[in-house]
Amino acid sequence: MQTDRETDMRGRGTPLFDGEVIVVTGGARGMGAAEARLAVAEGATVVIGDILDEAGEALADELGPRCRYRHLDVSVEADWAAAVEFASSLGQVSGLVNNAAIYVPQPLMDTPVEMFERHLRVNQLGCFLGMRAVVPAMKAGGGGSIVNLSSSAGLRGSPGSFAYSATKWAVRGMTKSAAMDLGPHGIRVNSLHPGPIDTPMIAFRTEEQMRQRLAKVPLGRMGGPEEVAEMVVFLLSRRGAYITGAEIAVDGGVSL
Ligand SMILES: NC(=O)c1ccc[n+]([C@@H]2O[C@H](COP(=O)([O-])OP(=O)(O)OC[C@H]3O[C@@H](n4cnc5c(N)ncnc54)[C@H](O)[C@@H]3O)[C@@H](O)[C@H]2O)c1
Repeated sequence: MQTDRETDMRGRGTPLFDGEVIVVTGGARGMGAAEARLAVAEGATVVIGDILDEAGEALADELGPRCRYRHLDVSVEADWAAAVEFASSLGQVSGLVNNAAIYVPQPLMDTPVEMFERHLRVNQLGCFLGMRAVVPAMKAGGGGSIVNLSSSAGLRGSPGSFAYSATKWAVRGMTKSAAMDLGPHGIRVNSLHPGPIDTPMIAFRTEEQMRQRLAKVPLGRMGGPEEVAEMVVFLLSRRGAYITGAEIAVDGGVSL
């Protein structure tokens, strides 16, 4: 008799998903767009949620009928309810990628309260609201997988980006607590920690700033969004079936 594991090993090369629905926040551009693209290529139905409506609609059109765009401000609870209802109308919701975030780097003493709160609302509250919104649908379907995007700034101290770093540590902590709460329901929760990745989020850096940053990366280069997407999709799929509560760095070694 063949075990599930042997059957799965034989299935290598076949798509990882069979129409299951995955919600990707901040999917209109950058890493989220790469994650949506790869998940669709692997057979998933993807709902992109973002506040960049034009870019989100354009990507969904490009990726075809298994990709839909939905306006979703992750810091607004009512937007989450509507997005999950929409996603559930397309099939079984089995995955969530809490990828949306803002990054306004300021050191502690230069961080106004409003800016700290803005980071909290999008990066931390957004992640909490997202997990809470999808869990009933995942439970009803017998399980699921949630990937929360933290950062190398959520693995160690990070100079000059106090509010951002605070929220990325929070995402890491919430991931572990959620993994313990949700494991008995077959829902896995992991945090992913990218290093410098070539996306619009860090495009404001000057060449000199990038040179200094890359000098601290053992692999000596920026990562591509598709390199992060590979790990996200792995964790969402059956390949990651025994991984939960883990913090996985995709960072060229920068957090060592
Ligand atoms: N790029 C990097 O070097 C880097 C490094 C470490 C971690 N990260 C993390 O990776 C994730 C993806 O970042 P990226 O580099 O692709 O950034 P990006 O700025 O290119 O994309 C972020 C997306 O989130 C969306 N977004 C912002 N606020 C939102 C809100 N309130 N509701 C819904 N969507 C919202 C933006 O519109 C955008 O489409 C983020 O969590 C980021 O913190 C990025």
